[in-house]
Amino acid sequence: MLNAFLSLPLVLLFTIFASRVDSQFISAQNFLPVSYPLAVRSPYLNAWIDTPDRTTSLNVWPTHWDNNNVGFARIDGVAWQWMGEGGPGNTTTVLTSEITPTQSRFSVLAGSVVLNITFFSPIEPLDLVKQSFPFVYLSVEATSIDGNEHDVQLYSDITAEWISGDRTKVAVWQTVVSSTDVYHQASLQNPEPMTEITNIAEDSTVYYSMQTVSKMTYQSGISGTMRSQFGSTGSLSDTQDNTFQAINAGGFIAFAFAVDLGSSTSFTTPTVWALGIVRDPVIQYVPQAGSSQSQNRRSYFWTQFSSIGNAISAFLSDYTDAVQRATALEQRITSAAQSISTDFADLVSFGARQALTSDITISQDSNGAWNYSDVLAFQRDTGKSRRVNAVETLYATMPVHLYLNASWLGMHLQPLLQYQDSSGYQNGFASPDLGMYSGLTEIHLRSTGNMLIMTWAHARMSGDGTLIKRYYDLLKRWTNFLVTNSLLQNNQISADGLQNVNMTNLAIKGILGVAAMAQISSATGEDADAQAFKANASALYQTWKSLALSSSNSGHLLPTYGNTAASGYALMYNMYPDNLLGLGVIEESVYEAQAAYYSTLAQSAGQFGLTFDTSSNGEANSAWTLFTAGSIANSSTGTRNELVSMVYARANSNASTSVGSFPTYYNDTTGASPTPGGGQAR
Ligand SMILES: *[C@@H]1O[C@H](CO)[C@@H](O)[C@H](O)[C@H]1NC(C)=O
Ligand SMILES: *[C@@H]1O[C@H](CO)[C@@H](O)[C@H](O)[C@H]1NC(C)=O
Ligand SMILES: *[C@@H]1O[C@H](CO)[C@@H](O)[C@H](O)[C@H]1NC(C)=O
Ligand SMILES: *[C@@H]1O[C@H](CO)[C@@H](O)[C@H](O)[C@H]1NC(C)=O
Ligand SMILES: *[C@@H]1O[C@H](CO)[C@@H](O)[C@H](O)[C@H]1NC(C)=O
Ligand SMILES: *[C@@H]1O[C@H](CO)[C@@H](O)[C@H](O)[C@H]1NC(C)=O
Ligand SMILES: *[C@@H]1O[C@H](CO)[C@@H](O)[C@H](O)[C@H]1NC(C)=O
Ligand SMILES: *[C@@H]1O[C@H](CO)[C@@H](O)[C@H](O)[C@H]1NC(C)=O
Ligand SMILES: *[C@@H]1O[C@H](CO)[C@@H](O)[C@H](O)[C@H]1NC(C)=O
Repeated sequence: MLNAFLSLPLVLLFTIFASRVDSQFISAQNFLPVSYPLAVRSPYLNAWIDTPDRTTSLNVWPTHWDNNNVGFARIDGVAWQWMGEGGPGNTTTVLTSEITPTQSRFSVLAGSVVLNITFFSPIEPLDLVKQSFPFVYLSVEATSIDGNEHDVQLYSDITAEWISGDRTKVAVWQTVVSSTDVYHQASLQNPEPMTEITNIAEDSTVYYSMQTVSKMTYQSGISGTMRSQFGSTGSLSDTQDNTFQAINAGGFIAFAFAVDLGSSTSFTTPTVWALGIVRDPVIQYVPQAGSSQSQNRRSYFWTQFSSIGNAISAFLSDYTDAVQRATALEQRITSAAQSISTDFADLVSFGARQALTSDITISQDSNGAWNYSDVLAFQRDTGKSRRVNAVETLYATMPVHLYLNASWLGMHLQPLLQYQDSSGYQNGFASPDLGMYSGLTEIHLRSTGNMLIMTWAHARMSGDGTLIKRYYDLLKRWTNFLVTNSLLQNNQISADGLQNVNMTNLAIKGILGVAAMAQISSATGEDADAQAFKANASALYQTWKSLALSSSNSGHLLPTYGNTAASGYALMYNMYPDNLLGLGVIEESVYEAQAAYYSTLAQSAGQFGLTFDTSSNGEANSAWTLFTAGSIANSSTGTRNELVSMVYARANSNASTSVGSFPTYYNDTTGASPTPGGGQAR
């Protein structure tokens, strides 16, 4: 990547120490993704570190998901760089790594000391204020491995690269010191609202902070100067450079902290930093189609805090409790996922943060009062497009929302439903997102099916019937569209981008959308509609089966009706909602025949699994492969687990020529992924 480094240097974390210093790198999980999530909390706080050789060191720059951050320790007067490139001192070696649903942990060998470095991006299912606060923790502990006491100082900085994709732009900054904590903040001198350059927001403020502890120092200024100063003295000057200038004016503007831990054999009290990116407002939202009236919406956490300083103090002082909550949540997630397989548990740990980077917002009335009945969430289609609440991406993240807190799915659906229920929205089918692509008529079948399935999944799993009641007429209109259009198609594009005639997999999504509506009607007391839609779904299913099943093809579903080419197939990932929601449309025998067929396909699968459709020239998709696994007959758990392991194989590899965070699209034999557009960090 040519981008200059984004120094998001968060630096050290927990030590795990190993008594063997010469050791090979070990992953606590045998899981070695090429890129580790470091700070993954919002569309613009989404940083990773690439370790192409997957083992030896963190002495590369951390990067924004598509791009590009520094940490040093000084031990017995010698500087060791635990993260990032260049700078003073020796490089370090990673001994172990571990990825949990909220944390990436590294233990790094620096001379005779092991540093435990933890990047912690909280997931807070019970508390919307906490969930909406776009901050992460970085913590470091240290242990001597030779039994002797060592003198340890820690350093970490971030650069102003966080606030613009154009490093010639002028930054302004300040350091705020209170009795309990210190924070640096930086933003552009001339921020540009709702604008981004190379996926970095041009209207954000970056914060880097820590609690006041004994022997801490801080400084702002040119990165190289501060790093050298720390390398030679082990401390900073408690000063601010007040000459505002370009982010990179012959040296990057940076914001640093140093802590002198003193001399010991074990430093078990973590040194904790907090990093955040705040945009305010976060979105301009148009609730009514055809209207020019937009709302400036703010992050939900503002309902509880009158100033960012208070919010940062609360976040810093909550650290110990946050770790405890995360530990309990992770035990629950990991044991549930382990009941499927170890590969599945690793994938869930890897993907959870990534699926939860939405902005959670609230509106205010003209007097500034918060409207608690108007909480909306906005998801960015990271790594693929810049679309907002892209329906197929929301659908792919539906399971994580349903598992953690089904209400979150409703907060994402509400803006889509509200907009399309307004009189200015004239189409009889659902839009694929909030705005950008609504002109394309080829993607309405998949969007309409997904919306009905998600709206019912939200109501059923959260027990909250508000959306299905409020938008009943809209949902019914959409269902009528599906009744007429699902079975036979000649111009529709599937969720994986194919545009074939009469796609079996796309048709079943539409049919299951109708079946979901039958349950919505039943739940809202619309019994006549329930009966009619149930009968429609059942009739459509029978015809679908007759068109899509072929006796010459051993009973598996054909990729398109009548396509009996011996080698043609599609992964029927759209059967998943039947299973998820207990819709009872698809017969067990069909599930069983599919599972048997996938089992045969798996024998000749590429190194990275199966393409989602033989007409796609070997392209595979992680989300849809997992949805296929989720729609396997209960009697075929072996085949289900094989599909999971195919996705694991790609996540756990450095095969791509373009190194980068785990993409959704990749070649089933080479692992290569298009850049951009492969769904990196999606
Ligand atoms: C560092 O991490 C390892 C592995 O989790 C742990 O055993 C060790 O106690 C940690 N060291 C410190 C100082 O926290
Ligand atoms: C991938 O990792 C292996 C070690 O597992 C290493 O030998 C190889 O060079 C790496 N490939 C790239 C592209 O860095
Ligand atoms: C660390 O740096 C010092 C001073 O530059 C050098 O003498 C020493 O060999 C280095 N140690 C390692 C393990 O790289
Ligand atoms: C889900 O989130 C909402 C909103 O924050 C909260 O009121 C509710 O208690 C959460 N429910 C569960 C089951 O965690
Ligand atoms: C609060 O939001 C709800 C849902 O959008 C809306 O119906 C209501 O009018 C709003 N209340 C005020 C006072 O704006
Ligand atoms: C779709 O399938 C139906 C039923 O087999 C067939 O009659 C129709 O011609 C197909 N559509 C196209 C455009 O080929
Ligand atoms: C759907 O149900 C309605 C009402 O029962 C019926 O008139 C219509 O023919 C059905 N459509 C299909 C495609 O089954
Ligand atoms: C996948 O890789 C194979 C082998 O290099 C190549 O033939 C094929 O075109 C690739 N597919 C895509 C979608 O790039
Ligand atoms: C598997 O079993 C569960 C629990 O009994 C059921 O809800 C689900 O529909 C079954 N899945 C399939 C594909 O039959």
